[in-house]
Amino acid sequence: MHTQTHHSQARHLLICCLLVGLSMSACTTNGTTPIVTNPNEVAPNLSTTYTYANTTFPKHIADALAQVDNTPSNNPITDAGATLGRVLFYDTQLSKNNTISCGSCHKQELSFTDDAIKSKGFQGGLTARHSMPLLSVRFYQSGKMFWDERAATLEAQVLMPIQDEVEMGMTLPELEQRLATLSYYPSLFQKAFGSTAITSERVALALAQFVRAIVPYQSKYDRVKQGLESFTTSEARGEQLFTNGRDACSSCHPPPMFITSNPARPFGLPNTGDNGADGRGNFKSPSLRNTAERTALFHNGSIADIEQMFNGRIREHGVAGGGRADLTAFLRTLTDNTIKTDPKFSNPFPSVK
Ligand code: HEC
Ligand code: HEC
Repeated sequence: MHTQTHHSQARHLLICCLLVGLSMSACTTNGTTPIVTNPNEVAPNLSTTYTYANTTFPKHIADALAQVDNTPSNNPITDAGATLGRVLFYDTQLSKNNTISCGSCHKQELSFTDDAIKSKGFQGGLTARHSMPLLSVRFYQSGKMFWDERAATLEAQVLMPIQDEVEMGMTLPELEQRLATLSYYPSLFQKAFGSTAITSERVALALAQFVRAIVPYQSKYDRVKQGLESFTTSEARGEQLFTNGRDACSSCHPPPMFITSNPARPFGLPNTGDNGADGRGNFKSPSLRNTAERTALFHNGSIADIEQMFNGRIREHGVAGGGRADLTAFLRTLTDNTIKTDPKFSNPFPSVK
């Protein structure tokens, strides 16, 4: 289906361009979408189709999702919408000089974050904060995005890196014009939204669908909650400490996604001049899933890993000797390796990109 549409458009383009000679801007498919060629076009490989809508989550996840899901009624995940979102997420054409994509700073193999403390934008400039792991974003009940919650919704957030001067450096009109030069987009927009029109609003909807679809649910923790496996003694003690201990980690990082529902107080991080949400040094925390193997933790990436976090003097995050090994063992059970290799979340562009 896809290839057919693609070919007929290419044929149309050829005929059209023959008719108007060398003028590239006058070619249209439906009277509204100009087609000009893009010398840097590299087509994504979409020969395998994937399912994103209506994932059957285990009960402990489905129950929680029903309580906190931030999916708006006008943008449920569809297979075609998330497929378009996947292409957009990995397309370097979304950046001014065609060098980086969302996936450059949110790397699948790193649980959709970056191992650099600050990430590099399209001209080599650095982001102000550490990149966030895009895991279980749809479980953040208020729907507010970024460490300081400055984006009201995920739909609003996804257009911000595109327009950020350091990250991707585009304007929305430039974005729409650029996408219209790429022959694979009209049919993807058609399938996702019922017409070939390329608008930044549709870009936002599709990107948000793809990001919301990224939900880890195949960790050891999940198998234990389904009664398929058991915790070791140390892991079980760690879970107790996490939920009932003096530190009550779970009051801020509640299971099963271990995502805070609100930004929380400053923890005395080595930090200068970043006042976070509401100017009082409060920050959102991403999900603690896969956090045990991540590096550069917290909003400024200043904490090397969970070991340094437990040993350090970060309020509410330092843990006395005996509990550290058990809490670490428990946090390790939250790692879902499948999300890092699942082809439906992978880069569809050939590696020359
Ligand atoms: C140059 C690196 C870079 C690029 C490119 C980039 N991001 Fe990010 N992303 C970040 C950083 C850094 C943050 C945290 C920024 C902050 O909170 O101030 C972030 C935060 C986010 C968040 C917030 C997550 C949460 O839990 O609040 C989402 C969602 C997101 N990015 C999606 C995207 C999408 C979609 C794209 C592509 C359109 C993209 N990012 C491109 C670096 C990047
Ligand atoms: C008062 C609420 C609160 C409590 C209690 C709390 N946390 Fe946090 N945690 C947060 C917030 C908020 C952040 C992000 C703060 C920042 O980046 O400045 C965070 C960050 C983290 C991070 C780094 C996440 C990342 O992606 O960088 C880990 C890991 C973590 N907490 C684990 C724990 C553990 C384990 C405990 C119990 C020993 C605990 N937390 C107790 C609120 C809390």
